Amino acid sequence: MKILVTGGLGFIGSHTCVELLNANYEVVIIDNLSNSSIDVLDKIEEITSKKPKFYEIDVCDKEKVSVVFKENKIDAVIHFAGYKAVGESVSEPLKYYRNNLDSTLTLLEVMKEENCHNFVFSSSATVYGSPKELPIKEDFPLSTTNPYGTTKLMIERILADVSKADKDLSIIVLRYFNPIGAHKSGLIGEKPNGIPNNLMPYIVRVANKELPILSVFGNDYDTPDGTGVRDYIHVVDLAKGHIKALEKCVNFKGIEYYNLGTGTGYSVLDLVNTFEKVNNVEVPYKIVDRRPGDIAACYADPTKAYKELGFKAEYGIEDMCRDSYNFILKNKESHNN
Ligand code: WQD
Repeated sequence: MKILVTGGLGFIGSHTCVELLNANYEVVIIDNLSNSSIDVLDKIEEITSKKPKFYEIDVCDKEKVSVVFKENKIDAVIHFAGYKAVGESVSEPLKYYRNNLDSTLTLLEVMKEENCHNFVFSSSATVYGSPKELPIKEDFPLSTTNPYGTTKLMIERILADVSKADKDLSIIVLRYFNPIGAHKSGLIGEKPNGIPNNLMPYIVRVANKELPILSVFGNDYDTPDGTGVRDYIHVVDLAKGHIKALEKCVNFKGIEYYNLGTGTGYSVLDLVNTFEKVNNVEVPYKIVDRRPGDIAACYADPTKAYKELGFKAEYGIEDMCRDSYNFILKNKESHNN
């Protein structure tokens, strides 16, 4: 089977391409390199000894996306491409609505024209907003507090309507919790542009002495040590979850939603302490005010993905910390820019 992966050179996309190739799928990548680099394509080949077909195009460009489908018999699409920085989405909402919605609508239109019926969408636990109870189940109320999260929620609504109208479609919506870590080879990993917004990329740069100190955003939450609790999932587990989702996608009709998380929450200080221990490094930190929009705790009930997809995360928090740092150590020169 031939799978089109949009955003396939990005953090989660590249790890998913590796697992797809390892599972003997043929892979075609579309990426506009706005938040990724072309050298990831060679790294994917180095890891798998297979080189995916690559198109440097923007998913919003309908004419070029159509060419990809005409040149390749695409059996299914995994759609990662999209902007994902919460803070940036607050300051530039139009950029986020235009890009994230337009790219998805374009893709769905071309899929209909080219008779492609299988779609796996990269959504986010952010659609649950501030959950009233924990762990979070897929049928919990949905609400969002920033334009990035709202684009994910709007796309989920679009997919539900498209699924009602087109009975030939099969759609799997995957709601990621907090993906961190890197491939064990250290060849691919998370390399955000500029100063990282997310916790793990920031910890890594402090440990690597590229940044002086980690700011811990609040220690007065109603959590065991007062700092924010999240469900961190290894990016390789997340990638393998997409393989399980694909297997389901091509064998059913309709739309289904799945949490991809471990079901275990760890605090900011849990992550800092584990990172220091497994990597034998120091991560100096200071407690500062809460970050606006943050919630105290968020972790998944992973039961539905286990029962219906046969998916269960295997890597623990120590693996995530070790692999995140290993990636930086293996890519020191390129990481500092
Ligand atoms: C984790 C915890 C912070 C940075 C976001 C998006 C979500 C998804 C994952 C795309 C929180 C604390 C963080 C720092 C800190 N992205 N923190 N100092 O906010 O749970 O989720 O990324 O899908 O949609 O919302 O992840 O890594 O930013 O924060 O103390 O420098 O670490 O307060 O408790 P978050 P995060």
